[in-house]
Amino acid sequence: MQNRTFITTFITLWLMSTNLFSQPIPQLTLHLDQPGVTVSPTLYGLMTEEINHSYDGGLYAELIRNRAFKDNPKTPDHWTMIQDSGAIGKISLDHNQKINNAFTACLRIDIENCGKQIGVSNDGYWGIPVKPNTTYKGSLYAKSSGLQNKTLIVGIESTDGKIMYASTKIPGVNDKWQVFHFTFTTSSDIKPTADAKFVILANEKGIYCFNLVSLFPPTYHNRSNGNRPDIMEMLATMKPKFLRFPGGNYLEGNMFSSRFEWEKTIGSIADRPGHMSPWGYRSTDGMGLLEFLEWCEDLKMQPVLAVFAGYTLNRDHLDSGAFLKPFVDEALDEIQYITGDVTTKWGAERAKDGHPKPFALNYVEIGNEDGFDLSGSYAQRYLQFNDAIKAKYPHLHIISTVGGKDPLGRRVPAPSRDLEIVDEHYYRSAFQMEENASQFDNYSRKGPKVFVGEWATREGSPTTNMNAALGDAAWMTGMERNSDLVIMASYAPLFVNVNPGGMEWRSDLIGYNALACYGSPSYYVQTMFSSNIGNKVVPITGENIPTQLQKLSAKDSMNGLTPKEIPALFYVATRDTVSGTIFLKIVNTLDTPQKAMIRFEGKTKLISTGKAIVLKANNPEETNSINNPNNIVPHTVIIKRIAKKFNYIFPAYSITVMKIKSR
Ligand code: AHR
Repeated sequence: MQNRTFITTFITLWLMSTNLFSQPIPQLTLHLDQPGVTVSPTLYGLMTEEINHSYDGGLYAELIRNRAFKDNPKTPDHWTMIQDSGAIGKISLDHNQKINNAFTACLRIDIENCGKQIGVSNDGYWGIPVKPNTTYKGSLYAKSSGLQNKTLIVGIESTDGKIMYASTKIPGVNDKWQVFHFTFTTSSDIKPTADAKFVILANEKGIYCFNLVSLFPPTYHNRSNGNRPDIMEMLATMKPKFLRFPGGNYLEGNMFSSRFEWEKTIGSIADRPGHMSPWGYRSTDGMGLLEFLEWCEDLKMQPVLAVFAGYTLNRDHLDSGAFLKPFVDEALDEIQYITGDVTTKWGAERAKDGHPKPFALNYVEIGNEDGFDLSGSYAQRYLQFNDAIKAKYPHLHIISTVGGKDPLGRRVPAPSRDLEIVDEHYYRSAFQMEENASQFDNYSRKGPKVFVGEWATREGSPTTNMNAALGDAAWMTGMERNSDLVIMASYAPLFVNVNPGGMEWRSDLIGYNALACYGSPSYYVQTMFSSNIGNKVVPITGENIPTQLQKLSAKDSMNGLTPKEIPALFYVATRDTVSGTIFLKIVNTLDTPQKAMIRFEGKTKLISTGKAIVLKANNPEETNSINNPNNIVPHTVIIKRIAKKFNYIFPAYSITVMKIKSR
C-alpha cells in the first residue's frame, strides 16, 4: 500500500515537473525593486476572555473547582462527602458563617462518627492533575466547633480512594476562622493522571467549616496565583505582540451587574467575589486585572485594554452624560491602576498588590461589538470616553468597536468624529475567508487603521481542522499584505477545555484537559506566520493562479445557486531589511500539489539554499486532538537551487513559509 502511494506520488510529481500538464503553471513575481508598505510591528497578538473555561479550568492554574462555594447557592457543587466504614456525617452549605462580605457561604461538615475515614473531596476541573516530583501549594480557611484544637489532613487521592499521592497535616484548627497555608509533594514513582481528587480529612467528630479552598501546582515563572506553564509555553511560541482583554462578551456581561468590574478583580483572592460570566458559569476572577497584566509582562506583550462602555449583552445601555460618567471614571481609574506611579491612588493600590512598577499602555478599546447596540448610543458614548481618556492620557490610541465592518461584514456608521482605529470581527467558513482574503486590498488608506480584534475560520470542533487552517492562512496573507492598514489582529477564541461541558464556542485554537494541552492546525498557522515575518511587505504579482469552485449544499444547488469561483492559491511576502531574509507564505487549498514558478525582480543576491516550513494534511477534515496532538504539525524542509527564477511544488492542502536569504 505504501509502495503504491509512493509510486503515485512519484508519477504525479514527475508529470508536473516535466510540465506535461497543459495548464500554464502559476507564477509569482516578487518585486524586490518596488517599495513595499511597512509591516505593523504589532500585527499578531492574542485575544482572550473567560469562555470555554479559558481561565477557571484553563490557563489560571487553580485546581479546586467551586473554591468559594458560590457556584450554586443551594448545594456545594463539585464537593462530595467521603465516609468509609462506620463514618457518619453530612455536608451542607452554611450561609451563616461568612469570612467576609465577599464570601458568605461556607462548606460545613457535621461529623458524628469518624469511622475509618471521613471528610470531603473536590473533583477539580475534570480531575486533579497528579504529576511526579511536583510540589502543590494550597490554602484554606477553616474553623471547627469545640474548644480543643483539631488537626486536618489535606492531600490528593486517587478517585477510588485507594492511593494517597501526597498529603500533609493542618494542625491548630479551632473555633475562629483562620487561613492555613500548606504544601505537599508527590513522589517520583507515580504516573501522571487526572483521575484524582483533592481531599480534606478529619479525625475527630464535631462541626467543621471551610472556605476559599485553593490548590496550585507549579506555575509559569513561579507566580503565586499564576498560570499553567504548558499553556503559557504554547502561547510564548506564538510570539504574540499584544493581549486584548478582558473581552469580548465577558467585558460587557449579560447585565450591568455582571460586567467585568475590574476593581473587584484585584487584591487578595479573598477580596474577589467573582461574578457570573455571560458564557454560563461563574468566574472566580482569580484571573483579574493584575494577572492579565502580568501575563503580558511574562510574554512581553503589550496590553490592549478594553474598557466597559455602558452597553451590556441584554441590549441595555446608558446614554452619554451624567449617568455614564461613573463608568468613564471607572475606566480612568483602571488606566491609572495600570499606568500610574505609586504616588497616585490606584498606582499605590497596584504597588500594594505586589507590582510597584507601572505597566506601559498604548491602546484602549471603548467597549466591545457596540454595533449590536441598535439604539445608536455608541457614537456619543464613544466620544465621552474618548474625550475623557485623551484629556488625561493624550498618548493613548483609542479603538472604536464601531465604524469598521460588523461580524456580518456590514459597514457600521462611525461615531461622528474621525476615528483612529476600528475593531472589526470576522467569524467565517474557510471558503468565506478565502473569498475575502483580498478584502483589505481595497480599503481606503485615508480612514482609520484596522484592528481585527477577533477572527477565526470556524470549521472543526472543539479545535479547528486543516480546512480552517487553510482558511486562516489565506485570510492572514491578506492582513499581512495590508499591515500598513491592519495594524493588529488576534484570533478568537484562544482556548477550550475539551472535557464534556467545557466548551461554549465550537471552534477554538488551543485545547486542553487537566493534564495536557495541544494546538489545532490553526494554532500552527499562527506560529508559522508570527515567527516568520519581515518589516517590509514585498509586492507580488501573481499569474495563472488556479481557482477553486465553491461547494454548494444540496439545498443551495436545488435553489439554483451557482457556485462561485475564487482563487485557490494565496500568497504574501515580507522582507527583513536588516538580515535580508525574505519570508514567502503560500497557501494551496487544492487537493493536488501545485507547481509554481517563483521569480524575483530587482537587484539582489539570493543564497541558493533556504528553508520551507510546511503544514499539510491528506484531507481538509484532518485535525489534532487531545489524544492525537501531533497529527498535523509543521515540518521543515531544505530548499535547494533557489535562484532569480525557480520552480517549487506546493503540496496539496498545504501552507508553506519559505525563508530565503538574500544579500
Ligand atoms: O469570541 C466569542 C465572542 O464572539 C466574543 O465574546 C464576542 O466579542 C464575539 O461576538
